[in-house]
Amino acid sequence: MSTNIKRVAVFTSGGDAPGMNAAIRAVVRTASYHDLHTYGITGGYEGMINGKLSRLEPRNVGNIIHRGGTVLKTSRSEKFRTKEGRLQAFESLQAHDIDGLIAIGGNGTFTGANIFSKEFNIPVIGIPGTIDNDLYGTDFTIGYDTAINTAVEAVDKIRDTADSHNRVFFVEVMGRNAGFIALDTGIGSGSSGLLIPENGKTPESLIDTLKKNIKRQKLFSLIIVAEGNPWGGANVVAEMIQNKLPEMDVRVAIIGHLQRGGSPTAFDRVLASRLGYEAVEGLLAGKKNCAVGFVNKKAVFTPFKKAISATKGVDETLVKMAEILAI
Ligand code: F6P
Repeated sequence: MSTNIKRVAVFTSGGDAPGMNAAIRAVVRTASYHDLHTYGITGGYEGMINGKLSRLEPRNVGNIIHRGGTVLKTSRSEKFRTKEGRLQAFESLQAHDIDGLIAIGGNGTFTGANIFSKEFNIPVIGIPGTIDNDLYGTDFTIGYDTAINTAVEAVDKIRDTADSHNRVFFVEVMGRNAGFIALDTGIGSGSSGLLIPENGKTPESLIDTLKKNIKRQKLFSLIIVAEGNPWGGANVVAEMIQNKLPEMDVRVAIIGHLQRGGSPTAFDRVLASRLGYEAVEGLLAGKKNCAVGFVNKKAVFTPFKKAISATKGVDETLVKMAEILAI
């Protein structure tokens, strides 16, 4: 090992994601294997500011691998955006002689970590945890697989009622600025249309699709709408369609935070375990101020600066395929 790191702190921040607990467990146990002391910070950056650190031993993280949410709690901290807040956070870490940090979260978490690590010269490794899957430097983020499975299960149920009534359903899924969840939910549930920020579908082209569906003898339609659809969420889209095509029987279902909960899938548990393990190994090998991810099944470390600024982008082939398979 090339560093003198002895005490690490781990925390979760931003929106929770199923699998975060598996990552916490992996961090604590890998650190213990290397004789490091691990502290858990309760409540993300807000907890760091308020000195909410406590020792985590391997037994403290037993029986959590299968649980959704995060046992360390999380927050979206406004105070950490200020220099004063970050100084307070650093003082809390100093009080426990923390010399390395592991941050589990999404873009906002990594943005905070990037500033903090430079300001106070403390090594930080980020673990991508967000259901949105919108982080550069990893093929998948923790929680994404569970979220799309939840969404597909929900759409399967909506399909039954849409079919029975010959209705047009607009189903809104999460993904703040990106269409990853919507795209895979659409493909996995066999939807008849997709509105995602990346496919440039216009109101006119949607109307066209719905009219064509009737001609094709598709008596009901399931349209998956990403919450980040540039011209509106499911309610806005449904209202517009109902006005333009009054003969259609239109309904809306917003899956919402259901997608953030539940027991993580095996894929998310394994991914989170591997990321937690690699984060500690990386920290001990001298990596700092970067996020760990898996690209083509290999662990890679991407500087925070790049991880937060570069765009991953959805797979264009999948976008095209989804369109073809919906005819
Ligand atoms: O980033 C994950 C996410 O679930 C997004 O998909 C969504 O836009 C946002 O968080 C919702 O955040 P909150 O739970 O704070 O309202």
